[in-house]
Amino acid sequence: MLHFELLATEGLARRGRLTLRHGVVETPIFMPVGTYGTVKGVTPRSLEEMGAQIILGNTFHLWMRPGLDVLAQFGGLHRFERWDRPILTDSGGFQVWSLGEMRKISEEGVRFASPVNGDKLFLTPETSMQIQAALNSDIVMQFDECTPYETKGHVTTEAEARFSMELSRRWAVRCKAEFARLENPNALFGIVQGGMFEHLREESLAALVEMDFPGYAVGGVSVGEPKEDMLRIMAHTPRLLPADKPRYLMGVGTPEDLVAGVAQGVDLFDCVMPTRNARNGHLFTRFGDLKIRNARHRGDERPLDESCTCYACRGHTRPDGSVSGGFSRAYLHHLERCGEMLAPMLASIHNLHYYLNLMREVREALDAGRFADFARQFRQDRARGV
Ligand code: GUN
Ligand code: ZN
Repeated sequence: MLHFELLATEGLARRGRLTLRHGVVETPIFMPVGTYGTVKGVTPRSLEEMGAQIILGNTFHLWMRPGLDVLAQFGGLHRFERWDRPILTDSGGFQVWSLGEMRKISEEGVRFASPVNGDKLFLTPETSMQIQAALNSDIVMQFDECTPYETKGHVTTEAEARFSMELSRRWAVRCKAEFARLENPNALFGIVQGGMFEHLREESLAALVEMDFPGYAVGGVSVGEPKEDMLRIMAHTPRLLPADKPRYLMGVGTPEDLVAGVAQGVDLFDCVMPTRNARNGHLFTRFGDLKIRNARHRGDERPLDESCTCYACRGHTRPDGSVSGGFSRAYLHHLERCGEMLAPMLASIHNLHYYLNLMREVREALDAGRFADFARQFRQDRARGV
C-alpha cells in the first residue's frame, strides 16, 4: 500500500505526503540508514525524538544475520528492532556490488561467498523479494545491478552500462511478478540505472514507467563518479519521472546535495554520511563542517551548533521543565581524543538531527513558497565556516 499526494510545488521542487502501512511520511525527507536493523549508535527513542519518519534496512545484511527464520519469527523487522514507523529496505543490489571481486553475476542472479562465514549464496530478484516480504518493509526496492562508475581504474563504457541497465530492467520484471505472487501488501519501487549516459537512463526510465511502479528510484549515483557527473544525472533524471509518484535518489549525499536534489524534484534521500562521518568526528553545522579532533576545539565552551536543538547541543528537558544543557565542543573533543563510546553516539545524534532538521526547514520553505530564498541563504550560511 502506498498513497502519494503533492501538497505544493516551487519550480521542480515538491512538497508531498507519502502514506505507507506504518505511517505517514512528509516529503522531502532524509532517511537514516539502519543496515543491520539499527541506526548505528542511536536508539529508536532518540530517532523518534529527532523526528525521523522512515529508516532504512538492508536485505543482504539481515539475510546473513540474524537470518530469515528469526525475522519471520518476529513477523518482520519492525517488531524485531522496535521501530514502528515506516521502513524502506534496499534489495541487496548495491551491497552485492560492494563485494567487488567476491561475486559472479549472471542472468539468473548473483552468486557469492558469504562475507560472514564463507557459505555459498545465491541472490536473485525472486529471493530478494522473498526476503523483503519476510522483513515486511513498507517500501521494497527492486533487485538491480548498480552499474559501477569504474572497475579497477577502467571507466564503465556505454556498452557495459547498457548491458547492466538492461539486466536491471529484466530483473525489474521478475521482481514485480514475484512481489505480486507473494501478495506483498507493501510498495515496490523500480530503480533507474544507465550509468553516466542520459539516453540509457531515459530508456531505463521509460521501461520502468511502462511497468507502472508506485514509486521510482534513481540508482547508480554516488558510486565513485566525479561530482559534476552526479550533479548532471541529478539534473537530468528525476524531472523525467512521473510527477504523481514519489522519487528517491539513492545514496545521496552532502547537505548541499540534498538541497540541490530537492530543487531538481527529488522527494526521498538516504545516505550513510551523517552517521559514518559522525563516527569519524566529522560534524555538520549550519555554518559549515567541523572536525572535532582539531586542537582548536580543546577549550571551546560553545556547543557544536548554536542553532541546533539536538540532545548533544541543547541537552534534555526534565519533568520539572528545567534543561540539562548541551555539551561543549571542548568536552566532545575530549571524548573523541579518548576514544570514548559517547563521542560517536553524541556525534551521530547531532548529525542526524542536522539532516532531519534541514529537511524540515526545506518543507517549511516549500509550504511558504520561499524555497528558492531558503536555498540561497542555506548555501551562504554553509559557506561561511564555523
Ligand atoms: N544504493 C545506492 N545506489 C544504489 C543502487 O543503484 N541500487 C541499489 N539497490 N541501492 C543503491
Ligand atoms: Zn546538535
